[in-house]
Amino acid sequence: MAHKQYQNLIGGQWLPSVSGKTFQNINPADHSDILGTFPSSNAEDVALAVAAAKKAFATWRLVPAPKRAEILYRAGQLLAERKEQFAREMTREMGKVLAETRGDVQEAIDEAYYVAGEGRRLFGQTTPSELANKFAMSVRMPVGVVGMIAPWNFPMAIPSWKLFPALVSGNTCVIKPAEDTPLSTYNLVQTLIDAGVPAGVINIVSGFGPEAGAPLVEHPDVRAISFTGSSAVGSIIGQRASANFKPVSLEMGGKNAMIVMDDANLELALEGALWGAFGTTGQRCTATSRILLHKSIAAEFTQKLVARAAALKVGNGLEEGIEVGPQVNSDQIATSTKYVAIAEAEGAKILTGGKALTEAPYANGTFFAPTVIGSVTPSMRIAREEVFGPVVALIEFNTFEEAIEIANSIDYGLSTSLYSRDVNRAFTAMRDLEAGITYINAPTIGAEVHLPFGGVKQTGNGHREGNGAIDFYTIWKAVYFDYSDTLQRAQIDNAE
Ligand code: NAI
Ligand code: MG
Repeated sequence: MAHKQYQNLIGGQWLPSVSGKTFQNINPADHSDILGTFPSSNAEDVALAVAAAKKAFATWRLVPAPKRAEILYRAGQLLAERKEQFAREMTREMGKVLAETRGDVQEAIDEAYYVAGEGRRLFGQTTPSELANKFAMSVRMPVGVVGMIAPWNFPMAIPSWKLFPALVSGNTCVIKPAEDTPLSTYNLVQTLIDAGVPAGVINIVSGFGPEAGAPLVEHPDVRAISFTGSSAVGSIIGQRASANFKPVSLEMGGKNAMIVMDDANLELALEGALWGAFGTTGQRCTATSRILLHKSIAAEFTQKLVARAAALKVGNGLEEGIEVGPQVNSDQIATSTKYVAIAEAEGAKILTGGKALTEAPYANGTFFAPTVIGSVTPSMRIAREEVFGPVVALIEFNTFEEAIEIANSIDYGLSTSLYSRDVNRAFTAMRDLEAGITYINAPTIGAEVHLPFGGVKQTGNGHREGNGAIDFYTIWKAVYFDYSDTLQRAQIDNAE
């Protein structure tokens, strides 16, 4: 059967890769379902895309920001009309269940409306000059051509977090979607074009990291890079971008702790744990991957969590009643399998799951059983390293202070959560948990677009998406306007 052939988007034209190479987009729940073929791009394609973006910048930067914002507003409306189709294609593309892919498209809609509002809010400052008859102000300028490298776990939401604030700020973009999920980026960008984004303002080069991502980072006309993905790749990209003095926004891994105190609403914590650990098949940077349990409730909570995890319905996310979809590809299955073995070797106990599901009805996909690992101590690798699969580690503690210490004892610092009814502890946790995000009485997942998103320590390099993205996609310019008709010398003419 001939599959639909998607092309790169360069300067408003849909073009094959210069090399003619392609790759297939495969449904991880059913490998016989091919969504289409996509260009496998290289440095030549990237150069064409960057040139188109550079050309378009000359005019796009001069479009008034409120007009740019109107296009985003229209894109939000069109996304709402197309939500069901895009959600279905996203479930086929990367596996998460329909309710969640609808949520992913919804996040892009929310981001469109939020960022559209920013079009009338790109405020700068005015301030008195130290000199008479002189006016001083700061204005936000676009950066220029921005390169974006996206992951597969939120294939529409994450590109929207990058593209929309960049566009409203007057930048032009070249985006490289993850090789597992190019279609959702195509759907998003097609919608932006239908909403009125001019040719060349957004360009897509699909393909693999080293061939298509690396040249984007290296290209001298790309003025900033925004990346979400693994810490290993983020470290390479950060170094390469810094070598060329390019601002780079890195959003990477997590090992997110949920702390359950003895005074918590245990049923609520249980629901939160299931959603936080197994939503998106555990493939979220904010996934609940460590549950820290107060000794006095640990046995009861563990027993209930294991029973509920074992009963989760795993399968094709398009089907009614399925709660956990496949992992995105066989590499992710290999990682989950590896960490189960590492945990066992270090003395932890697999309480449920622990293996890939390979028999019917799972034989045509990449499925992993929801896994709960007990008897974990804070120094074990399963307590410290990211798995990015449906695998959660349980750690017991005696005191609140000890729980905070364990939560903070890792290299990552993305999301954290505390279940407790004690307000003093809640405020202490808000202050002391080393993370970019803290939830009280909710799991570690569930970010909203108008709050800052990002982590501390090895999770990121200090930039924020959501509220904060405009700071990355604009650069301050100071403007001094002298209307005295004389030469006035700062630091000299106003000295006593
Ligand atoms: P990855 O970091 O390899 O891929 C992310 C993006 O970077 C993709 O678009 C990829 O093509 C690109 N890329 C890869 N190598 C590159 C290079 N040398 N230069 C430029 N771009 C490059 O992540 P992958 O392999 O998909 O997943 C591996 C692990 O990464 C997961 O197990 C998980 O731990 C972590 N991850 C974290 C995410 C997050 O949300 N923070 C999202 C996806 C993965
Ligand atoms: Mg795929």
